[in-house]
Amino acid sequence: MLSDINAIEAHAVRSLPRYTRTGVKVLTLHADIRRDLDHFAAASIPGRRGRREKIPVGFVWRDPGSTARDDLLLIDPLPKSIEEKLRAFLTDEIGKWTGERNIEHTATYGVRKYGNGAVLKVHTDRPLTHALSAIVHVGSSEQTEDWPLHVYTHGSGDPQTVYMAPGKNDCVLYESATVPHGRPVSYKGSSYANVFLHWRPRGWEGMARRVMSKA
Ligand SMILES: [Fe+2]
Repeated sequence: MLSDINAIEAHAVRSLPRYTRTGVKVLTLHADIRRDLDHFAAASIPGRRGRREKIPVGFVWRDPGSTARDDLLLIDPLPKSIEEKLRAFLTDEIGKWTGERNIEHTATYGVRKYGNGAVLKVHTDRPLTHALSAIVHVGSSEQTEDWPLHVYTHGSGDPQTVYMAPGKNDCVLYESATVPHGRPVSYKGSSYANVFLHWRPRGWEGMARRVMSKA
């Protein structure tokens, strides 16, 4: 729910600049990248490969209704060659979408693999470094199992629900400091793999620091 965001996040949503009309764009990855991700997913997901990640308190939890006992969150790093290809493709897509060509990449996280019962709090991302971002769907253990992503487009009090699938709507671009997002409905499958990439326009950090100091 939108009411899950805290006062600092609400200030960011209200006060930081916006680049597009809705703040969200769903797209499908280039076939070449999709092939690489499918290959990675085929090796990574069935074996539950990866290392445990410290769960960020209050951001990811297991639905009390789930009886699963396996890891709630594993990290299996994406090979550098795939990450570079993905980053180049998405830097271009974000430039086309926002009109901002002068952007710098600030972070890539994952591949994060979520386990049964996972719930992701609705939140906004770190305001100084995460301005324009992408969620990439790598794959999941059940091809038919959807885990809806909720995004609140600019000015909307109701979420837009996005179902991501390999080869169709497998990437979501979003203005991550001003678009609340999360997966508040618990995951019903056994492994769901995403990777997250973040950018900011040049000059963003100083501006964001000033804006957020007034929160
Ligand atoms: Fe996020």
